[in-house]
Amino acid sequence: MKKRKLILAVETSCDETSVAIVEDEAIVLSNIVASQVKSHQRFGGIVPEVASRHHVEQISILFDEAMQEANVTPQDLSQVAVTYGPGLVGALLIGVSAAKAFAWAHNLPLIPVNHMAGHIYAARIVQPLKFPLIALLVSGGHTELVYMKADGEYEIIGETRDDAAGEAYDKVGRVLGLKYPSGKEIDEMAHVGKDTFNFPRAMLNENNFDFSFSGLKSSFINTVHNAEQKGIALEPKNLACSFQNAVVDVLVTKTLRAIKEYNVETLVVAGGVAANQGLREELAKTLNEQMPEVALVIPPLRLCGDNAGMIGAAAFASIKHNEFAGMDLNAVPSLAFERMDEN
Ligand code: KG4
Ligand code: ZN
Repeated sequence: MKKRKLILAVETSCDETSVAIVEDEAIVLSNIVASQVKSHQRFGGIVPEVASRHHVEQISILFDEAMQEANVTPQDLSQVAVTYGPGLVGALLIGVSAAKAFAWAHNLPLIPVNHMAGHIYAARIVQPLKFPLIALLVSGGHTELVYMKADGEYEIIGETRDDAAGEAYDKVGRVLGLKYPSGKEIDEMAHVGKDTFNFPRAMLNENNFDFSFSGLKSSFINTVHNAEQKGIALEPKNLACSFQNAVVDVLVTKTLRAIKEYNVETLVVAGGVAANQGLREELAKTLNEQMPEVALVIPPLRLCGDNAGMIGAAAFASIKHNEFAGMDLNAVPSLAFERMDEN
């Protein structure tokens, strides 16, 4: 009997422990995510040591749960895939060690997956991808534009020079007294506010695809502190709306410019900030007005955050490029795609 193409995928790069079973490129049979967000909330950010401890506690349970839900046994599987970077080293090591042990015990090939490739391939779970494509990756740790000529080929054409978009959301959220992570709440506030502050749009008119969000963040923080010192109360929803408009404006403008220059078939938006309603709406509207022939693929919210289903989907592209690892696979916390202009 022909063996099924069935990958068990593992993701532990940050604060979600996740194990999934993915069949035939993108059919997700199970995708179990154990979030630790509540444990980190009281610290206002992720505490790496706490993250590692949670992963250790959860990982074996999730292996069992994922196989049970997908109704498969280790004998049915064809490969094991795991995120080996980028991320927190201690967190990554838990997933890498667990995946290696499982692959060794069941004599299965091991596929190392870049977490950011996973975010892009979350889109394939939704629909087949047409290449070439541009992916706008926006998360708590990354903001980058990736050009993909074909399946499994990644080149960075632009990235943030300082803060990631999600990081900027979380930092200004802290100033507004919101819970970590605050992207979602700021997004909701922005929808009922007005853009009254006109915050700066850094690098908007520069002839490159890079971003910078630290100036915007400082401008926001200074505005709030100055008002506090003068005893003036600012409207939080207007601050949120003005901040979000500045972020979305830069992301949409640069992404559209990249799509035009690279003449692509598809735009994928991925990562935690891809959940942003303002960004989704503006991209859909602008793309429809300016380049309606380009397919816009934004994964549903449950696939925008970290999950192992997307790692399994990306692993199928790695197989095409014969990218396998041995038992010496290590975590690479600063793993990154190559930058095109550095080739
Ligand atoms: O990709 P992700 O789950 O984790 C990594 O960073 O890898 O992204 C988390 C980030 C956080 O910074 C969070 O504030 C942000 O995504 N985020 C949002 C929204 N939902 C989550 N940012 C803006 N708008 C949202 N709706
Ligand atoms: Zn992520």
